Amino acid sequence: MSAPLVLGIETSCDETGVGIVRGRELLANVISSSMEEHARYGGVVPEVAARAHLEAIEPALRQALETAGIGFGDLDALAVTAGPGLAGALMVGVGAAKGLATATGLPLYGVNHLVGHVGADLLRPPGEEPSPPLDEPTIALLVSGGHTSLLLVRDLVTDVELLGETIDDAAGEAFDKVARILGLPYPGGPEIDRAAVGGDPAAIRFPRGLTQQKDLDRHRYDFSFSGLKTAVARWVERARDEGRPVPVADVAAGFREAVAEVLLTKAVAACVDSGVPRLLLGGGVVANARVRALAEERCAAAGIALRVPPLSLCTDNGAMIAAVGAGLVTAGRPPSGLSFGADSTLP
Ligand code: KG4
Ligand code: ZN
Repeated sequence: MSAPLVLGIETSCDETGVGIVRGRELLANVISSSMEEHARYGGVVPEVAARAHLEAIEPALRQALETAGIGFGDLDALAVTAGPGLAGALMVGVGAAKGLATATGLPLYGVNHLVGHVGADLLRPPGEEPSPPLDEPTIALLVSGGHTSLLLVRDLVTDVELLGETIDDAAGEAFDKVARILGLPYPGGPEIDRAAVGGDPAAIRFPRGLTQQKDLDRHRYDFSFSGLKTAVARWVERARDEGRPVPVADVAAGFREAVAEVLLTKAVAACVDSGVPRLLLGGGVVANARVRALAEERCAAAGIALRVPPLSLCTDNGAMIAAVGAGLVTAGRPPSGLSFGADSTLP
């Protein structure tokens, strides 16, 4: 069988994504974001996201088919994010996918969103050479506004183990909240990145959550960013109370350094502990300049091969879901049928 032609739908958070792939070849990747609607609330509002998906899903489907130059009849399968994510948002994608599966008779695969982020590595934007296939096993570090997870990927399609995740805020969420504390707009990640330029990352030392010896027994691969956020809030508050100007560049640089250091310390530890000298990054926070630089530095020092998919595929999109769907078809996996539901807490 030639490489399967698969359409993937992603609606777990604030991006309505519809992607089409032929095996590992990216044919279309349409993304409609409701980010701007959430900006005035300083974070994603679930009801607003769900309504935006409802409005965006049909045009996104049409546009993806048009871009790929195909019709539903050409497809071999459909794939959709089944979870984890925002319940109402997921339901829009799963409902749409089931409707399409019923109408077209195409097999439908429910895909785990985190596995989708790993699957992004399979793809390359049009015109670029696909990367060599992912060497398995690999450790994957996924960091976005909704998740911060360390995975051991033995087989992308059939065997992915969750090693650890955040016990409170996601890393991207921490960026968004700290940006707000500093009076910077949403989404906070890129703003903090910009504000940190010229700042001294060592001027203020913020806490590194769950990295002390006493935490490592139970939380070796888990993350915590809520204490860090509170520490930044206190520091800024005190400066303001004392009538001192807030050194925004230093605060941003110190905060960014703390996040990057925790992320890479834990990811490298996971690689070393499991004897897997490969690290794959995914999620919107991978766009962070310091996270990327430190990843290169630490991986080089530890002899770990680092893979970072193109940034356009690191953030939520439908193509990564389609890529996993194509993998499932190729592996001869049975479709999920129509009885699975949106599962906001899918492990
Ligand atoms: O993967 P993504 O687009 O969506 C999900 O949340 O699933 O990630 C969005 C998150 C936001 O929290 C945003 O602030 C963060 O990624 N982000 C960044 C940067 N660009 C986006 N965080 C740090 N540095 C950046 N340059
Ligand atoms: Zn995501």
